[in-house]
Amino acid sequence: MKMLLFMVIFYFCNVNGFESDLIGCFKNMPKNSSVYLANIQGDDHCIKSCNGIYYRYFSFYKGHCACSNFLGEQVTNSTCDSYCLDNQCDGLTQITNVYPTGNLVPGPPRNLSIANITSSSCRVYWREPESYINIIGYVVRAVPTQTFSTYPSNTLEWTFGNSTFQNEISTLLSATRYNISVHSISNEGNGASVYQIITTKLADPDTLPQQPVILSSDGYKMKIKLASTTNNNGPVSAYRIIVVKSDDNQAFQKDSVLSYTEAQRNGLSYYVAAEIKPEDINKEFTVGDGKRYGPFYNARLDPKTNYNILLGLVSYYNGETKIVYSQASGYHNGISILNVYDDSDQGDSPGVIIGLSIAIGLLTFMFITGIVGFLILKSRIVNRRQRLSENQELTLQGPMIEVENNGYIHEEDHIPVNHYRNLKQKVRTLSSNQLKIEPTNLLGVGKFGKVNSGTLHENDTLTTVTCYSIYDKKMNQDTKKSMLQELDLLIKTGKNENILNLIGTSETREMVVVVMEYASMNLKDFLLGSRDHLNGKFSNMTEYQAFEIAIGICRGMAHLHNANILHKQLCARSVLISNDFVPKVANYGLAQYFSHNKIPDYTRWTALEVFKGHQHIPKSDTWSFACLLWEIIALGGTPYGNISSNNEIPDQLNKGIRLPQLRYINDELYQIMLDCWQLVPDERPKFEDLVDILNNFKGQCTSIQMLSFNIYSNFQYEQFYPDMELSVRPVF
Ligand SMILES: *[C@@H]1O[C@H](CO)[C@@H](O)[C@H](O)[C@H]1NC(C)=O
Ligand SMILES: *[C@@H]1O[C@H](CO)[C@@H](O)[C@H](O)[C@H]1NC(C)=O
Ligand SMILES: *[C@@H]1O[C@H](CO)[C@@H](O)[C@H](O)[C@H]1NC(C)=O
Ligand SMILES: *[C@@H]1O[C@H](CO)[C@@H](O)[C@H](O)[C@H]1NC(C)=O
Repeated sequence: MKMLLFMVIFYFCNVNGFESDLIGCFKNMPKNSSVYLANIQGDDHCIKSCNGIYYRYFSFYKGHCACSNFLGEQVTNSTCDSYCLDNQCDGLTQITNVYPTGNLVPGPPRNLSIANITSSSCRVYWREPESYINIIGYVVRAVPTQTFSTYPSNTLEWTFGNSTFQNEISTLLSATRYNISVHSISNEGNGASVYQIITTKLADPDTLPQQPVILSSDGYKMKIKLASTTNNNGPVSAYRIIVVKSDDNQAFQKDSVLSYTEAQRNGLSYYVAAEIKPEDINKEFTVGDGKRYGPFYNARLDPKTNYNILLGLVSYYNGETKIVYSQASGYHNGISILNVYDDSDQGDSPGVIIGLSIAIGLLTFMFITGIVGFLILKSRIVNRRQRLSENQELTLQGPMIEVENNGYIHEEDHIPVNHYRNLKQKVRTLSSNQLKIEPTNLLGVGKFGKVNSGTLHENDTLTTVTCYSIYDKKMNQDTKKSMLQELDLLIKTGKNENILNLIGTSETREMVVVVMEYASMNLKDFLLGSRDHLNGKFSNMTEYQAFEIAIGICRGMAHLHNANILHKQLCARSVLISNDFVPKVANYGLAQYFSHNKIPDYTRWTALEVFKGHQHIPKSDTWSFACLLWEIIALGGTPYGNISSNNEIPDQLNKGIRLPQLRYINDELYQIMLDCWQLVPDERPKFEDLVDILNNFKGQCTSIQMLSFNIYSNFQYEQFYPDMELSVRPVF
């Protein structure tokens, strides 16, 4: 746009002559940053041509047109007295009048190439634009143009310093077409861009199909009911019905699911009975009807055998096929059994499983609690007095163990707490006309519904908030109960500047909305985004800011611990950053939600004793915090990036391996981290102590080189490996 304007202006100026813009008479225009254009008819053609290829200056004399970004030696600052053209100048190089083209910004970066495309990332390479000065940095942008995902497909953007010419970009959606473009930034504005269209690879479907419901069986045939599944990672191309002979106890191998005859030949006790089109999924299906479905034979069943039935979701795209299977629905002489589901090929090791179960456990309970509580409150509000006995069952007394497993620090005195009363007294009720949910701004999906941003209108001010919409109608009693516990947890948390606070709840006829504070960015993205080469620094975050963030997190954590709440998943992804750079500890309680299909894998932040099966204690959070502190200092680098498999982490920690001291932090700061990674939890500092220690460091951080983001020779960013920090697992 800007360019166009300039071109137009200069085009017109040119009609009256560009003489008034004369910069002067120059010689020795640097040849390696200039181009000489042949066959140029007239000066207006020259100016347009040079402008069109993003040059700043042009010279035109007797049909010789040259474009350049650098001026040579100035002869005079008025019109040349004599001219000398390139091939006529004896020893001297060209002497001509030089004029501005009107273009001020750099041309497109050269040699754009994109490699190593996966389902969620790719590596982008580029070179600096042709002959140009003063490039501040580069922007890589990924605009999704075609996707299967129902998540909002936002434009992604990354900024890099002027010495970066390649980077891995991640968080892309699967099976999605992107327009990836790169442009430079200069003081005068954005340079021209160059782009390439790519399509990401297909990932496994993000939702497991529901397990088939067995309606009836006569021994030879089994009537089953199937349900459709959505997939954000690619198309839903077909469904497969898998029959498993459950008595054989053979492990179900996802990669060798064959047709009936092939399976028999290979001695496998499971086979594909049929492949059906997505549009036929909601019809009843008969397993064992002896018909052919595509290439598959739906063989008669044997009345003497017990069977499990699985539903597979097939996603086919660009020559790739991905299949995920439901849990099994078993038919066992009329008794349903659940067993063969095997996911060993997902590489789960004890470590990962721990990580996951922590994640899922916490998630579940946290998300839910709040809401359920409210639901119960909602349904009981009418008959409070008469139902007091029922409320008793919702006190902490009974389900204490469950609660403890889910994050409470064990309390010495089991004082029964009446949730109902708590809720009533402590949760603010927001009227639904105060609250406006932005249906198009989906932040992610939580266990019980969608999480959108919204605005809260209060006392003539509008505040952006996070809204969790929960449709409570379908929930069973147990779920509601655990939700009650979760809301209780949130209430217990109380308010603190450094945690993501609960604001209140709002209800409509069909749903309950839990309203929390809003913060637009998580710390991980903030840190990665701070990677930049500017003014001799390799981060645009200052050392002081880094300490401030770390201290804020300690304050938030100290507050949680004082409220007897363990976090269990502390890492940069669990911390949000408000617009004024205040860190807010989140990802506990209702603040859990994820975009796309990736959930964080906390293995690399988990304390050693937790791997050993010990209970998570407050000092285990301290361990995680030190890993998070390292992550802050490493500007979002992946902890133990040199250890590629998460399964190896517990072993390595056991051997005494700890995160390394980075070259740009001093011994004193590193010692604090080491203290937090002591084997004996009691020897680790408490969060209150950490607040004091880090505050003290912050005070000194300008005088002593406690932490320095000054660039040094051979400096390299700590590598960031998204796959090591995320599990591709459908959570919700
Ligand atoms: C250009 O000319 C003006 C007036 O003749 C003079 O004051 C100025 O110093 C000159 N500039 C250069 C760069 O020669
Ligand atoms: C890209 O992929 C190739 C081949 O798979 C591999 O050798 C190379 O290390 C990868 N490069 C990066 C930067 O990941
Ligand atoms: C990169 O940025 C630095 C600092 O702003 C600057 O000195 C240098 O000239 C820039 N390099 C290029 C190629 O523009
Ligand atoms: C891709 O993006 C660039 C830069 O935003 C734009 O100029 C170009 O027209 C886009 N290409 C397509 C095919 O959408």
